[in-house]
Amino acid sequence: CSFLKEKTRQEVLEVLCAGLARQEYRGYDSAGLCVDGDKAGEVLFFKEVGKVAGLRKKIAASNVDVEKTSISQVSIAHTRWATHGPPSEVNCHPLRSDPQSEFCVVHNGIVTNSAELRLVLQKRGYKFESETDTEAVAILTKYLYDSRTDKHLTFTNLIKLVLKELEGSFAFVFKSKHFPNEVVTARRGSPLLIGVKTDKKLKVDFVDVEFAGQDSNDTRVDSLQPNSPTALLSPPSANPKVLRTQSRAFMSEDGLPQPIEFFIASDAAAVVEHTKRVLYLEDDDIAHISEGELHIHRLRRKEEGDQTPGQVATTRTIETLELELAAIMKGKFDTFMQKEIYEQPESVVNTMRGRVNFDENRITLGGLRAYLPIMRRGRRIVFIACGTSYHSCLATRAIFEELTEIPVSVELASDFLDRKTPIFRDDVCVFLSQSGETADTILALRYCMERGALCVGVVNTVGSTLSRETHCGVHINAGPEVGVASTKAYTSQYVALLMIALQLSEDRISFTERRNQIIDGLHALPGQIKKVLELDQQIQQLATTVSQNKSLLLMGRGYQHATCLEGALKIKEISYMHSEGILAGELKHGPLALIDENMPVIIIMTQDSLYPKVQSAFAQITARKAQPIVLCNEGDDGIPAGAKTIRVPKTIDCLQGLLNIIPLQLLSYHLAVKNGCDVDFPRNLAKSVTTE
Ligand code: G6P
Repeated sequence: CSFLKEKTRQEVLEVLCAGLARQEYRGYDSAGLCVDGDKAGEVLFFKEVGKVAGLRKKIAASNVDVEKTSISQVSIAHTRWATHGPPSEVNCHPLRSDPQSEFCVVHNGIVTNSAELRLVLQKRGYKFESETDTEAVAILTKYLYDSRTDKHLTFTNLIKLVLKELEGSFAFVFKSKHFPNEVVTARRGSPLLIGVKTDKKLKVDFVDVEFAGQDSNDTRVDSLQPNSPTALLSPPSANPKVLRTQSRAFMSEDGLPQPIEFFIASDAAAVVEHTKRVLYLEDDDIAHISEGELHIHRLRRKEEGDQTPGQVATTRTIETLELELAAIMKGKFDTFMQKEIYEQPESVVNTMRGRVNFDENRITLGGLRAYLPIMRRGRRIVFIACGTSYHSCLATRAIFEELTEIPVSVELASDFLDRKTPIFRDDVCVFLSQSGETADTILALRYCMERGALCVGVVNTVGSTLSRETHCGVHINAGPEVGVASTKAYTSQYVALLMIALQLSEDRISFTERRNQIIDGLHALPGQIKKVLELDQQIQQLATTVSQNKSLLLMGRGYQHATCLEGALKIKEISYMHSEGILAGELKHGPLALIDENMPVIIIMTQDSLYPKVQSAFAQITARKAQPIVLCNEGDDGIPAGAKTIRVPKTIDCLQGLLNIIPLQLLSYHLAVKNGCDVDFPRNLAKSVTTE
């Protein structure tokens, strides 16, 4: 939204499309936007199935007057990852309340009681165009507006009424012809930030939060309960208290109104080319922007009782992003994933920068310092994560247990919650997440917080929900990761976890030698990763051979089991080839039945204490006519002559997985290219899964 600043429609459309393209990795089933039309109250929609590029084409092919200028405007856009209803134009956001588009909304998340809302609203005569949960929200807004008794109901208070009826998770942006040049945005469970751009210096760096008093709007509208679809909504109560806040941040020194633009987004990447000043909203914040002012209100939910400024921060800080635009561009690479694979020699250095002192063999993790004694006293450590982040936990579990002598369990966040896992005050729970926004991981965090455990975050995205809600933590500093298949975040998470284990064990003299070896290994790591990347051409050729097959098995044990799981995940995710990571020790308990001369296998036989055991797995599968490709160390002459090999430098056992994963990342990449897949946008997946 821009205020007091003349912009052509073309400029507005460009801001929206470019912003969507930068956020596209969050979802790319379809993309849509709406802008003001030529007549007052008219709204123009553009929607297209598929990627933002298609939406751009559609706009270019339309006869919309792009030269039209406007002084103040509010426009919204969305790129979708389908949950309710397949990707199609009608299901594409923005969704509207009615053919006149009185209320338009974009939504990230899932409204879990939308089916009930839909039924009630249909009974009241409202018509639905789409299958989405979001449309029920747009129509509910219209219903509550139509049935208001207070003719002065503000946009914010109207949206408060709407939000109180909703269950699930969301980040919304609302626009309405009844409130021209106003926008309301709110979050619960899904990320949301507001970029602020103005030529003048901001007077203060925060926005006050308005805590509602006992106004009548703060009670739930009526009896619309999830299990009573026939319940009737009653109209909103009269005389809501009108709230006033001072947006001191946006007053210029001379007190005059100033041209200002606000960029509301799920992700800083969409905003950074316009401004680096951003404000992150908290759950149950409702932000209202109008007349160039931003006001933040709190939604009080019934079950929470009164919210007082003691329980929730009373201001929202306007932070300055450190993100550079170049970091979210592809540069000379064909895809983000390829760029991110190649960034690993530097990204692991960035993870260690200022933290590992190679001269004195010491680790200093500032974000954990105050909590180290509690962590060391912990009864057990529980790692909790999803996807690739989960694999980085598996990869480092053994070294964690070895160095800390504390039992470590590794949990998939969804399963951890499903099992209602017992958690106690003396547990240390470590949450791993690249995005810091994965819904399952966040829910697990809140579950552990409620039970009094110490909660530690290991997160890439600064300012994300996980990094804000944990007690303490470590940012992995890998830089923005855009490719849906996580690569550099994996290696940086791995290094970050190793650093935590090293830091926790620094008081144990008996581990000095082991610790020193690991730190020396970390020192050599970036150079060794560069060497592994030189295998790219060999891997590309290998991909040509392997791509003929339907399936690919990856086998290893000990530290390399996680490498197999992660390698198989990469292959599945982006090349759609079936692939399975197998613990070599389990081979004879089932997977051996899959082996014959036609089944391609990669076996990881790098030299560690389990090498002899992997050799016997190798013998078992070659006896069944398999012709495995052996991922092994340079100079290892114990590999049977004639075996196809991928040779990587040798490092210390607990670091070897950092090198071994790279040929598998490259292999998945080349397989995807060979199969004609869209590497950065694999079908059906999203980078950041902000729904349960
Ligand atoms: C999604 C992504 C994966 C990622 C997982 C966990 O499934 O596609 O690449 O590993 O979420 O994400 P997080 O941001 O929590 O690490």
